[in-house]
This record gives sequence, C-alpha cells and structure tokens, in this order.
Amino acid sequence: MSRTKLVAGNWKMNLTAAEAGAAVGTLLGQISPRPDIDVLVCPPFLSLSTVRGVLRNTALHLGAQDVFWKESGAFTGKVSPGMLVEAGCSHCLVGHSETRGRFGKLEVGESTLGYFNETDHTANLKIRALLYHAIVPILCVGETEDERTASKTESVIRKQLTGALEGIDPAELYSFVVAYEPVWAIGTGKTCDAVEAGRVCAEIRAMLGDILDKDVADHIRILYGGSVKSSNAQEIFSQPEVDGGLVGGASLDPLEFAKIVLSA
Ligand code: PGA
Repeated sequence: MSRTKLVAGNWKMNLTAAEAGAAVGTLLGQISPRPDIDVLVCPPFLSLSTVRGVLRNTALHLGAQDVFWKESGAFTGKVSPGMLVEAGCSHCLVGHSETRGRFGKLEVGESTLGYFNETDHTANLKIRALLYHAIVPILCVGETEDERTASKTESVIRKQLTGALEGIDPAELYSFVVAYEPVWAIGTGKTCDAVEAGRVCAEIRAMLGDILDKDVADHIRILYGGSVKSSNAQEIFSQPEVDGGLVGGASLDPLEFAKIVLSA
C-alpha cells in the first residue's frame, strides 16, 4: 500500500526561539506544499509558540520532542499532552535514544545517564497519553553498536516495540509512526547502509504485524533516522519500506533540510 512520506526535523536542544522562527521562515521559502510528503519540525518546548506563529496556515506540521503522561500535578520540569495540544503540536517523539540515555556519541558523563532514563514502560505511558489527546506518537527504536555486533538488532527492537505498545488497541495505531534509529548512527556521521536500513524497516513492519495486526502494520509509517543528509537521503528514502526520515543535525540548516525534504 502507498503511505504518505514523512520527513521530520528533530532540533534537539538547539536554536533559540528567535533562531527557530527564522529557520522555519527560511524553510517555508524553500518548499512548496506537496500532498505526497508531510513535513514536521520538532523544536525545543520554548520555541513551539514562536514556530507555530511562523508556520500558521501552512502545510508544515509542529511536533514536540518529549512529553510526560500525566495531565497536571507536581511533576517539576515536565510538560503534559494537553499543553502540547494547546501549543499546536500534532506529533511528539517518544523513546528517542537520547531520552533513553543511550547516546551514539557520549557527551555527558556516564553517571548522568540515569537522568534521562526513558524505559519501554514510560514510552508506553507516553504513547497512551498522546493517543488520548489525538497527538501522533513517533516511537524511536534502535540498537547500539555493541548490540549490532552481537547480532541483537532484531531482538532489541522487538523488545522495544512490544514494551512500548503493550495493551494498546491496534485500531488506535493507524496513524502511528516508528523511527528506526540505530544508536551508533545518531550524530556520528556513520549512516546505516540504505539497503540495510530498508531491511530493518521491513523487519519492523513484520514485527508490528505480529504485535498488532497486519492491516495496521501496513498503515504505520516507518522512518529511518541517523546521520541523514541531503547526499544520502534519496538513496535511503527510495527503499520500499522506508517512509521518510527523522533528521537531527542536518535539519538545523533550513536549506539542507529543504533538500532532504525534496529527496523524498
Ligand atoms: P542525526 O540525529 O540526524 O543528527 O544523526 C537523528 C536523531 O537523533 O533523531
């Protein structure tokens, strides 16, 4: 079946609100709306309002990088799904390897990794809360380099998918998105070979068929993420089971990100 491609920019902890607004303005000048490609930007929470103002009445979608699953309460530093709805978010990342404390290239001390501490269980709670608020979750899964070397890629991803989707009615997941992000390829410049990325994405679809059901699995968009840039995007996006990309570093430059979008 044909699925609309999705190209998402994950800006992580980059760009101030003013810079983010300017970047989206430049991006909008580079891409014209296309029915066959959805484009999404995920700025830091504090930039959502500025970016929303710039992309209002355009086809560009706005997403958040994380959420907490409770509606409100004594959860210092957290943001609820209802707050994301009010901020204009249609999508939200869940379970990114950086929120799981699994970094491709470690820039923080090992001792601080516990602060991130996303688990498959918290990913599950976040997905449920987002679905309740009609925000599309983008669940990130993927193996570390050691896990790949030990031939554990499939078992790691199956565990991540099973835990994150446990107890969720498959009928709620037709618009769900999965991003295959091998941890060793994130921010490292080491891209997964396009054919291998396509193979793992096909495996993920087969796993979703087992865990959920085949029809739902056929509708779920599966993105590749990890050092996507304009020079490799076309080859990656042309793999039959890759429905687009989750782009980190290269999405910070609106001209480069526009080229990646056009490769889809
Ligand atoms: P990268 O990050 O494109 O900078 O490798 C991708 C991601 O972490 O989503």
